[in-house]
Amino acid sequence: MEVKSVELAKVIAKPNDKFPDPLRGEFAFVGRSNVGKSSLLNALIGKKVAFVSKNPGKTRTINYYLINSKFYLVDLPGYGYARASKKDREEWRKVIERYFSERSWNMKTLFALIDSRHELMESDAQLLEWLEVLGISPVVVLTKIDKLSSSELNKQLKYFEQVLSNYKIREIIPCSSLKKEGLDRIWNVIIEEISK
Ligand code: GTP
Ligand code: MG
Repeated sequence: MEVKSVELAKVIAKPNDKFPDPLRGEFAFVGRSNVGKSSLLNALIGKKVAFVSKNPGKTRTINYYLINSKFYLVDLPGYGYARASKKDREEWRKVIERYFSERSWNMKTLFALIDSRHELMESDAQLLEWLEVLGISPVVVLTKIDKLSSSELNKQLKYFEQVLSNYKIREIIPCSSLKKEGLDRIWNVIIEEISK
């Protein structure tokens, strides 16, 4: 998709900050801290709009990017960052929980990002289980595939297909924001949803 305009339309920082106008659909990106959510948004948009950092815990607010005045891409704070203080973890958990409880009805697709290089983490499994309870079937994006050789990638793909078969997943998309791989498949999901 051609991104003609992008606008940081809303930043949700506090518990009573309002969500933006629900007349436009939204696509949210969730995953562990440092998995590459903000990088993926930037790669999709083709412009550096979201902050990226080597240090986990960079995105602490819910950031709504309005694309072509038509729909939102939503950058959520990461979870599962063990070294964050208990207070910070509690706060992020609340932010994400609020998003799912108050806003998931307006979500056209949830992209759940998982690092392609590792095994499924406990916190990822917890998220997937929680989504099942909420009746949300995510598209899983396996991130940072540029860090794997093609044989390692094949091995990891088989592993994830098997371990994710326990959950209701719409699709698994391997991706690299760095090498711009898999982005077209993500756009296809978005285009299909907004043209419904
Ligand atoms: P939080 O905001 O802390 O939740 O993190 P995030 O999920 O938004 O991750 P972010 O996009 O900030 O990226 C974290 C680190 O991973 C940065 O150092 C990025 O440069 C790196 N990274 C992200 N995507 C890729 C990728 O596709 N390939 C490689 N090699 N590195 C990546
Ligand atoms: Mg981020």
